Amino acid sequence: MSILIKNIKKLVLVEETPRQLARGNEMASLPCLSNAWLLIREGKIEDFGNMKNFDKSKLLPETEKVKILDATGKMVFPSFVDSHTHLVYPASREIEYVDKIKGLSYEEIARRGGGILNTAHKMQEISEEELYTSAMQRLNEIMALGTGAVEIKSGYGLTTESELKMLRVIKRLKQDSPLTIKATFLGAHAVPAEFKGRQSEYVEKVVHEMLPKVAEEGLADFVDVFCDKGFFTVKDTERILEAGQKYGLRGKIHANELDYSGGIQAGVKYNALSVDHLEYTGDREIEVLLGSEVMPTILPGAAFFLGMVYAPARKMIDAGLPLAMASDFNPGSAPSGNMQFILSMASIAYRLLPEEAIYATTLNTAYAMGISDEAGSITRGKKANVFITKPIPTLEFMPYAFGSNKVETVILNGQVVHTEKC
Ligand code: NIG
Ligand code: FE
Repeated sequence: MSILIKNIKKLVLVEETPRQLARGNEMASLPCLSNAWLLIREGKIEDFGNMKNFDKSKLLPETEKVKILDATGKMVFPSFVDSHTHLVYPASREIEYVDKIKGLSYEEIARRGGGILNTAHKMQEISEEELYTSAMQRLNEIMALGTGAVEIKSGYGLTTESELKMLRVIKRLKQDSPLTIKATFLGAHAVPAEFKGRQSEYVEKVVHEMLPKVAEEGLADFVDVFCDKGFFTVKDTERILEAGQKYGLRGKIHANELDYSGGIQAGVKYNALSVDHLEYTGDREIEVLLGSEVMPTILPGAAFFLGMVYAPARKMIDAGLPLAMASDFNPGSAPSGNMQFILSMASIAYRLLPEEAIYATTLNTAYAMGISDEAGSITRGKKANVFITKPIPTLEFMPYAFGSNKVETVILNGQVVHTEKC
């Protein structure tokens, strides 16, 4: 059935001519239509316009079944695109988080066998079914909060079998969830305990054993490496990115979270789709990113939760870079996939204008997932993935009113999949 949304107070991020991304000062100018209508047909955005010129008889044949939604006082946004998560995981890690409160750093916890290795240990035991069910619950939760597309990484397996188990779960989620999902193989997330002191042997295993199997089963869209102090080196990263290229997998790498790791440069050298985290981004890194096709992606939830320095987002946009912001939803460093919170963080903590923050969480994250053609803006022919807000006074209210849910109705693939009546 078609959907017609009428009397929309503001239709946000409307593009007549679609762009892959927005960069630099383009990010401050957000095309919107006031007093608008939006027509959704066969799962796609069919058309939109101003209510003044609205003529239902011209738009819809009498016989067509249509659901009419009145959005008086409400806004319509393109769904959030969350281009970096680890939301398939076996258990939460709130006890470690208390260790953090007591003063232990992320690296200290990792060195004690906590952190990623703790989750990897539990991953060996959990059944594929339990993993699937808990991840589906998380997907449903973020869907209700306005996310329409999400990237999910492996990386808590760290054995061939467990990595494949995670990726097969992601494959099932792709088939069963209305969200658009991309899978990333992150075999090089941490060196497993049994390879302690033999890091390069583990890298060879990722390259020669895991990657070929992942590719053979068609389980991944991208490849990732945690390129940082105490984790994988630039050499390891380049080795894996190069191997990934042979299978047509572009990189989306964890870089410069803990130090000036060289990860950004490695990502640019291998034309990664995105480099993510970026707390340690200086003039040299900005210079390298300028002119590249790599989307710099900041993960505010992780920096907030771990009490880290914030990446220089303002400086990056002012230098002319595009910028994306994603949730990093994972049990260790960002136990939330709420993109409304990321939107607020973008403005409140990183000093992005509301317009810039909206680009950073929609169109630019769509680019970072390789789905700009189908998601990230209100454009004719794109997937009808949108949400209708509750009644809100202004666009600026979205990032400003942090912590409360402003999303009322969620439409994915042209179907109402969630609605919350106030
Ligand atoms: O993106 N930085 C590396 N990996 C994850 C954390 C994973 C974990 O601690 O479980 C991240 O923050
Ligand atoms: Fe991450």
